[in-house]
Amino acid sequence: MNEDIIRTCRRVSSRRGESSDRIAVNVSAFDPDNLESTMLVQLPEGFTTLVTGAGGGIGGAIVDALLASLRPGRVIGVSRQPGAQVDDTRFESLTADLTTPEGRERLAAHLNGTPLHLVFNTLGMLHDEALGIHPEKKLDDLDAEAMAHLFHVNAATPALLLQALQPSLKGQHPALVASLSARVGSIEDNRLGGWYAYRASKAAHNMLMRTAAVELRRLNRSLAVVCLHPGTTDTGLSRPFQARVPEGKLFTPAFVAERLLAVLGERPLGGAASFHDWAGETVAW
Ligand SMILES: NC(=O)c1ccc[n+]([C@@H]2O[C@H](COP(=O)([O-])OP(=O)(O)OC[C@H]3O[C@@H](n4cnc5c(N)ncnc54)[C@H](OP(=O)(O)O)[C@@H]3O)[C@@H](O)[C@H]2O)c1
Repeated sequence: MNEDIIRTCRRVSSRRGESSDRIAVNVSAFDPDNLESTMLVQLPEGFTTLVTGAGGGIGGAIVDALLASLRPGRVIGVSRQPGAQVDDTRFESLTADLTTPEGRERLAAHLNGTPLHLVFNTLGMLHDEALGIHPEKKLDDLDAEAMAHLFHVNAATPALLLQALQPSLKGQHPALVASLSARVGSIEDNRLGGWYAYRASKAAHNMLMRTAAVELRRLNRSLAVVCLHPGTTDTGLSRPFQARVPEGKLFTPAFVAERLLAVLGERPLGGAASFHDWAGETVAW
């Protein structure tokens, strides 16, 4: 990434009514106008995309960024809630809870084996006020049920999603499978401690994605699996923890979406799974 060009971007997704008075600052060389020509050049014109967690901050922004380009031919957004009206015939909204077998079956039936060129999983959680789940600061905070819940949503569900998507991933078509992880899931990078269940669920996510990549390559030699760290992004997930984010390190979902699609566009097809951050840097497993 060319660090010489510094831009400050204040983009707010009006479609989802996101706003923030402490709006995220984007510092990078990203240029949305470039995205059109360079977006996911490994994939064919009119490619088919699945975005999970489409009702979330980053998931919604990924849908927006894809639809801002003419390259995708079909964008399927999956969310637990019916999606907002999107004035684009290429967009399909599917209501399903992918953490359940029924939700995954509904998705598989909807796709009916249609080849997918891009799977972008953004589904994930850190806290849940209703369930009383908060990131742990110390061993005394650990709770077996909360840990199991985070593991189910953040680790098991993305792997079970790939299980359900096999008919759409197998073949010879170019395919990118991206799944949002987090740098705190890096075992090597863990110096601060805390956030036990979230960290461990993301480490498990990464292992499951890496393991699935080995098997999926046997189904499709033109397929790549990429775990991505979006950086701290201004969404509901990070909102309770934003106070300590250093100035200039809180990104808008729109910026992150464009960065992550650009990073994905540089990944070769085939090979082992990889773990990259929003700037394209490799993250240690
Ligand atoms: N925001 C950050 O700073 C940050 C940093 C590092 C990593 N990440 C990762 O990025 C991903 C996207 O996060 P985000 O910031 O966009 O958060 P978000 O706005 O909360 O979106 C996450 C989405 O995941 C789905 N989801 C969450 N909990 C679920 C549950 N219990 N059952 C089923 N679906 C559930 C929901 O999708 P639907 O509403 O569509 O059903 C939700 O909207 C997550 O995996 C997160 O760990 C985020």
